[in-house]
Amino acid sequence: MLWRCPRCQGPWDLDFHAAPVPLDSLAGRVNSLWRYAEALPLSDPYATLGEGRTPLVPLTDTISAKLDFLMPTLSFKDRGAVQLAELARRLAPRLVVTDSSGNAGTAVAAYCARAGLTCVVYVPQGTSPKKLEQIRAHGAELVVVAGDREATALAARAAADEPGAFYASHVHNPYFLHGTKTYVYELWEDLGGRLPDDIVVPVGNGTLLLGAWLAVSELYGHGLIDAKPRLVTVQAEAVSPLARAFRAGADDLTGSPAAVAPTLAEGIAIPNPARARQILRAVRDTGGTFLTVTEEAIRAAQLDLARRGLFVESTGVACWAAVRETRGPGTAVVPLCGAGAKTGLAGARL
Ligand SMILES: Cc1ncc(COP(=O)(O)O)c(C=O)c1O
Repeated sequence: MLWRCPRCQGPWDLDFHAAPVPLDSLAGRVNSLWRYAEALPLSDPYATLGEGRTPLVPLTDTISAKLDFLMPTLSFKDRGAVQLAELARRLAPRLVVTDSSGNAGTAVAAYCARAGLTCVVYVPQGTSPKKLEQIRAHGAELVVVAGDREATALAARAAADEPGAFYASHVHNPYFLHGTKTYVYELWEDLGGRLPDDIVVPVGNGTLLLGAWLAVSELYGHGLIDAKPRLVTVQAEAVSPLARAFRAGADDLTGSPAAVAPTLAEGIAIPNPARARQILRAVRDTGGTFLTVTEEAIRAAQLDLARRGLFVESTGVACWAAVRETRGPGTAVVPLCGAGAKTGLAGARL
């Protein structure tokens, strides 16, 4: 089944126009992300596990955290994975194939289990053992690729090109982004029809960022918000190709492949994101920026959150690491988007 744009061979986008979501009539609706029905390209979900509607909790006077690690598979990826599983269920493939640094694969495995679909998940060597265990527990076949994230994607694509396979790619398939956009619809609802000054998001392949951009564009386009919030994006200093391109004023990834070092933030360690152009455009469109965090800052932020009662995986603390000591006066929301039990405490001394 076709999984990339036949003209440019890159990721594709959906020609779908969301209708305005009526804030006043949301209260009586289903308590999951499916309550934003007007904004979603699919309806009547069969594979739902009640995903979405995660709590918003203040961390300081101006910064709140949205607890997306409280999703059914313990990461924000459920928002998009349920869309891909629903789409796959309608297409009825022989096999669903995906590749991931761990969490997207776990989420796709779980929703395929729910939908009764056969699933194979490709992950790079070095993926957190707990994520591997969770993928297997959901009944998916697990393929650990002896190579990096890029090699893993290539292996999955070769499998996805086989007849009867559906490539449930969170990077290439735009339905995923229409799922992650519900993160911002929830913020908008919870804040009474407004958004914070800054929406801070971690960026590897940019699926939360591009979902956020979709939602911001839709809400703004429908006159449901007065101004667009800044999209403030966070990468690990060790793997920061987009931050570099942004600072260089480039429209796309520049020159030779960016230098890559090991990082605790495995979920955002993406040297060559396929939607780089869109990501850079989205951040600039909102007057946003890129921040980078050191490994030391990630370790400190994870422990700091744990001491506040929030046990978050090492990738999921990157945004808090980026803003906790440097914020200006405006309001901001950071996602805590993966559970601490998935990676444990990353090298912090207790
Ligand atoms: C916990 C967590 N945060 C952030 C990300 C980054 O998501 P994306 O690569 O779509 O930008 C991931 C990706 O796996 C993740 O697992």
